Amino acid sequence: MAGHVVEILLGKGYLVRGTVRDATKNVEHLLELDRKLPGTLKLYPAQLGDENAFDEVAKGCWGFLHIASVVVRGDETPEEQVEISKKGTLSALKSAQKGGVKTMVITSSVAAVGPTKKKHGTGQPYDESDWNDIASTHYGTYPCSKVESEKAAFQWWLDNGSPFRLSTIQFPFAFGPQQSKRVTTSNQVVQRMMSGGMPMVPSMAYNVIDIRDVAAAHVHVLESPKAFGDRFIVALKPEESGYRFSEIARVLKEYFPDYPLPSIELPLFFNRLMILIHPLFDQYNADIQSVYLGQSPYRHPGFSTNKLVKQLGFKYKHTNVRQSIKDTADSMIQLGIIDKSGQAIPPGVLYAGLLACAAAPLAVLYRCCCRKNGKKAKEE
Ligand SMILES: NC(=O)c1ccc[n+]([C@@H]2O[C@H](COP(=O)([O-])OP(=O)(O)OC[C@H]3O[C@@H](n4cnc5c(N)ncnc54)[C@H](OP(=O)(O)O)[C@@H]3O)[C@@H](O)[C@H]2O)c1
Repeated sequence: MAGHVVEILLGKGYLVRGTVRDATKNVEHLLELDRKLPGTLKLYPAQLGDENAFDEVAKGCWGFLHIASVVVRGDETPEEQVEISKKGTLSALKSAQKGGVKTMVITSSVAAVGPTKKKHGTGQPYDESDWNDIASTHYGTYPCSKVESEKAAFQWWLDNGSPFRLSTIQFPFAFGPQQSKRVTTSNQVVQRMMSGGMPMVPSMAYNVIDIRDVAAAHVHVLESPKAFGDRFIVALKPEESGYRFSEIARVLKEYFPDYPLPSIELPLFFNRLMILIHPLFDQYNADIQSVYLGQSPYRHPGFSTNKLVKQLGFKYKHTNVRQSIKDTADSMIQLGIIDKSGQAIPPGVLYAGLLACAAAPLAVLYRCCCRKNGKKAKEE
């Protein structure tokens, strides 16, 4: 996402300072933007968890966008993931204040907005007044890191006399063109599907947004004098943007029929099983169990988008999610990061595997019952 923001800023002629963890890796696309667009880009090294990480880069800047976050946990424990995000956010705020920054935007997520105990099941859309009150380090680490970081940011801002304009942005699952070979976490879904790495899709749905609109909204909010201590959700209406994984696969199949795309959606039972056994599902636990699991995407209440449009006059450009999905895949094909040689497993084989998986626990249950009944008969 940061790359798309850099592209917009350079296009507008800004002098941009960006931070990267390693200036020798995956920066060529940024340097290319610097060469071809009117603005100027300078890169600095920074790690989120380090003290004063952004002091040098923020010095004398007019605006500050804090985008980086530990999206997928590496070696960190859940507590460390939350701590790094929070520390990084506070360190960015302090550097912005020291550097004399006038306006700041912090990237959050709709994972910090919902689910909430109050609204869940009511059908009411989530809005900027909602805070996810389910996520914790035991139950949805990533949403928890976003809630904690955002709350800490607003608290710091109030405690320090609101030294500059501050806003946060929340958005859902973002697809959009890859600028480089390093695939963003959400775009990995498209990459895995197109490469045959996802023979079946989970029974899940997300609200989808185009990363280009998310990036444009970041710059819009940064530049808007009316944004002051606000949260802004960037999302499309649920009927336009609610997509099951199986629908994403179907859209891809329409545009790219030669790729080994998945054709089967796993029954709900397997979602529940995955939540129990698969570590990846930990960070999405809260979302899956309380909102997405088993619900049609169109019944998901979605998110209110009125504030950004009404208060700041933002205009969405990329509202056709099918096109966003296609553009994502096209960019990956162009970059050569889809290995088309993966084989789609024939549906017959998949169904047989599913039947075997479902039958195994039933067989165990049956045997237990038989044994119990036999014991009872013997006793009688
Ligand atoms: N994509 C979505 O669907 C989505 C939805 C809602 C919110 N968001 C938020 O949007 C922001 C951008 O995410 P993205 O989609 O662009 O995901 P991404 O591709 O995974 O980007 C995350 C960025 O954070 C950097 N980062 C991670 N840990 C870091 C650390 N310890 N120190 C310094 N930098 C670190 C990464 O640097 P490297 O390049 O060195 O790995 C990467 O540039 C994040 O705040 C994310 O939570 C994303």
